[in-house]
Amino acid sequence: MGIYFDEESRLFFIETKSTTMCLAVTDTEGFLNNVYYGAKIQRDNLRYLLRTGVGPFVPSVNERDRGSYLDCARMEFPSSGVGDYRPSSVTIADCAGHDSSQFLYESHRIYKGKECLYAKLPEGSNVRMPATFDGEGKAETLEITLSDDVLGIKALLSYSVFDDSDAILKSVKLVNDSDSTVIIEKLMSSCLDLDKGVWGEQTPDAVTLSGTWARERRIDRRPLQRGTTEVYSTRGETSHQFQPFMALCDRNTDDATGRIYAQTLIWSGNFICGSSMDQFDNIRSYIGINPEHFKWNLKPGESFQAPEAVLVYTEDGFDGMSHIFHDLFRDHLIRSPYLHKERPVLINNWEATYFDFNTEKLLSIASEAKKCGIEMLVMDDGWFGKRSDDNSSLGDWVVNEDKLPGGLKALSDGLEKMGMKFGIWFEPEMVSPDSDLYLAHPDWAIAVPGRKPCKMRNQYVLDITRSEVRDHVYKCVSDILKSAKISYVKWDMNRQLCDLGSTQFDPESMGRLSYLYTISVYDLQGRLLEEFPDLLLENCSGGGARYDAGMLFYSPQIWCSDDTDAYERLSIQAGTEMLYPLSTMGAHVSASPNHITGRVMPFDVRGAVALSGTFGYELDITKIPEEEREAIPGQVELYHRYGEIVREGDYFRIAREAETVYFDAWMSVLKDKSKALLTYIQCKAYPNGKARVIRLKGLDPDSSYEIKLIGTGEKKTWEAISPGALSGKTLMNAGIIVPLLPGDYAQMMFEISTI
Ligand code: DGJ
Repeated sequence: MGIYFDEESRLFFIETKSTTMCLAVTDTEGFLNNVYYGAKIQRDNLRYLLRTGVGPFVPSVNERDRGSYLDCARMEFPSSGVGDYRPSSVTIADCAGHDSSQFLYESHRIYKGKECLYAKLPEGSNVRMPATFDGEGKAETLEITLSDDVLGIKALLSYSVFDDSDAILKSVKLVNDSDSTVIIEKLMSSCLDLDKGVWGEQTPDAVTLSGTWARERRIDRRPLQRGTTEVYSTRGETSHQFQPFMALCDRNTDDATGRIYAQTLIWSGNFICGSSMDQFDNIRSYIGINPEHFKWNLKPGESFQAPEAVLVYTEDGFDGMSHIFHDLFRDHLIRSPYLHKERPVLINNWEATYFDFNTEKLLSIASEAKKCGIEMLVMDDGWFGKRSDDNSSLGDWVVNEDKLPGGLKALSDGLEKMGMKFGIWFEPEMVSPDSDLYLAHPDWAIAVPGRKPCKMRNQYVLDITRSEVRDHVYKCVSDILKSAKISYVKWDMNRQLCDLGSTQFDPESMGRLSYLYTISVYDLQGRLLEEFPDLLLENCSGGGARYDAGMLFYSPQIWCSDDTDAYERLSIQAGTEMLYPLSTMGAHVSASPNHITGRVMPFDVRGAVALSGTFGYELDITKIPEEEREAIPGQVELYHRYGEIVREGDYFRIAREAETVYFDAWMSVLKDKSKALLTYIQCKAYPNGKARVIRLKGLDPDSSYEIKLIGTGEKKTWEAISPGALSGKTLMNAGIIVPLLPGDYAQMMFEISTI
């Protein structure tokens, strides 16, 4: 692995363990083309792939048909308005209003390591942007400088690889070297042109993750059509609706085999991610900040940094793709000291009490929880101002002593006495119109003068791009954290951005707001973790609307969805797990009937589904049936026993309920393959069927394994069909048999360990 430049052929080879990307600079003009990306190949002379010997020729050979070349060559940083009519990487308007650009090769440098990315806040301070980092000297970076001499703008394209990953990290920085201000109207972080021939006769499938509140990250798959297939967010967060993710794969790709080109973005704001197929069936995939609600006036001497994109190529199907993303995020993105630690099993009072709680109620939940082995109480929304429903008080981060007499200190002391940790909920970016903060500073809310701002959940968004607002918000959170012993913060965001207006920007800079909003969130969370390095931070946004790689730079776990119905969670978690490690996925056991769906589910099934994430409870433990309460210590014990496999292991998808209708199954396997956890959920009873064969994955073919039923499943039936010790090869090919269980919703969990 590494990065190589061949002086003679002017080819760049960007290599990972199993992939090669090759970039070429054309003679004379200096166009930067991507001539190859795929399985690892020799560093051969790939200049023939530039197709300069066949029409449409490069302009130096055929200036007459310059446009034909520009509109079909595999451009690495395609600009707009000069003859390439496919979606561009960049659109820049000059001071006279022209919006064409053409970036050509100027120079490059290759260096060991990887530099941090920075953005500048309006008051001038630099904020480190979330991006993969090189802790142990494992990275190598290529920086190619392209230049548009007419505009006087340089584009610094950065490509990094790690010696333990098959991902390629790309980012772009624009630098204004001219004497006048230009307007960046669009800047993609990555663009990947793929020749039609890559796919043979069939065009690929596009796979994306889409959803809505309580139904996040469902897997969508459809054949790519001519035209454009896009997912996006203009909501000021990555959103419930789409993930910044698209995978293009051969039509027959499944979880275990098949070629995939996938991309995601380390970013928590507006994005666009798409693939377009043109007149020649060539495909251009791109990902970056959404150009909608974005305009950046780049003044002379200034630079603008786009977020980092992650590119993955694999031939090992969706499991292979997930492994690359999971390992990259765990090894090079998540910084939290909790990454490899067992997280405290928590109980959150949201679904237990909503806003109706007081110290006594919380302590009674905590004391019952403590008896069951639960380690932390998280006090959710409603502890501040006069908030007794979601209509008021956001921004007034003052403890409501009517509910919590003696303040947080009394509560946290009470918890400490019990031996329970204490966690707290915040929604720092928001303000309720009915709050002291809004009364004092109505102009602190994001709004367009003269236009009535749109309320969502009866709240507005604070303009945290203003330093005085951000400092105020920060101080509120920090003061609260200092006022009691608090180990955990759930950072929520319950509405999207709109009415984009900030009093601090002149008309020319107003288009910076949405980008800087995201940077301001990063600034706040970065500061918080600097001041409270031991804090366990969990991000959340009305469930899972800010579940993205950007937030993972700050929090090792993210609340996956407000939908805690274990059946619904099967598809939500299956989509989430495609991209994100299971160690990041907030998953709790909640009460039945479920608070959103009303569905009734057995307690053990709810437990089995939640055990594949960061485990906890979301129910009133004082009110649930006795037999459920009695089952909690057993579940907590399973979390302690198998948490490491889930947190550190490789994840394999065995079956998806969305496809099988009747059942769902997945595995986590320790990296050394000595131990695995298989979870099997029967969603519906299957009449007149045979027991199912489940083929295991990820084991060492030559080791012997024993399989132990650890759930409460059908013990007797299992004893009758339990295979005894078998080799990994047998288990992965012949599989095991799981019985058809009586009734809908049943689970079996298996420990598979070497003997
Ligand atoms: C949305 C979160 O996802 C819930 O868990 C809860 O914290 C509520 N917000 C509180 O308003």
